[in-house]
Amino acid sequence: MWFAACFNKLLSAGRLARYAAPLFLVLSGELGAPDNQTTTEGLRISIDDPAVASAWQVLRTVNCERCHGKDYEGLAAPSIVDYVRTQGREPFVRAVLDGNAVRGMPAYRGNPLVDANIEGIYRYFAGRADGSIGKEARPAMRGQVQR
Ligand code: HEC
Repeated sequence: MWFAACFNKLLSAGRLARYAAPLFLVLSGELGAPDNQTTTEGLRISIDDPAVASAWQVLRTVNCERCHGKDYEGLAAPSIVDYVRTQGREPFVRAVLDGNAVRGMPAYRGNPLVDANIEGIYRYFAGRADGSIGKEARPAMRGQVQR
């Protein structure tokens, strides 16, 4: 029957349209938007990047949160996340390594854990700042510190 064939064609065309649109979105990355957030360098930062996971552990060990607050968003000392968001990499690295003795920020230059992980530490906070790392994010593998 010609109309049955025709109906079938219409039906499959409708199905195609129904599935093609979401498929297109997935392929073009639209639905993956939360995964596509980028840093100023255009890289997406993951808590499970080995350097970032290591940095996360170092921050815990050194205990930056004792002054900068839970989630590093400010307590007695200012928010590290906001600082990285507004100031970027160079001032951040300087602030951590050189410190500010007068205002109570220790200098971490010479601390082997911080020295060896400064790039990962910056990347962790850059990820926090651009939202690609949530404040509750924990590395899947813990206790793996790069030295
Ligand atoms: C003993 C308390 C203390 C600890 C521990 C500490 N900080 Fe700080 N930090 C401060 C204080 C106080 C300031 C503010 C200095 C100023 O006003 O210039 C500061 C400033 C900073 C700044 C610059 C922010 C700004 O607004 O000037 C960064 C970045 C920073 N700390 C990162 C860290 C990191 C990373 C760690 C751990 C490795 C850490 N801090 C550990 C007290 C601390």
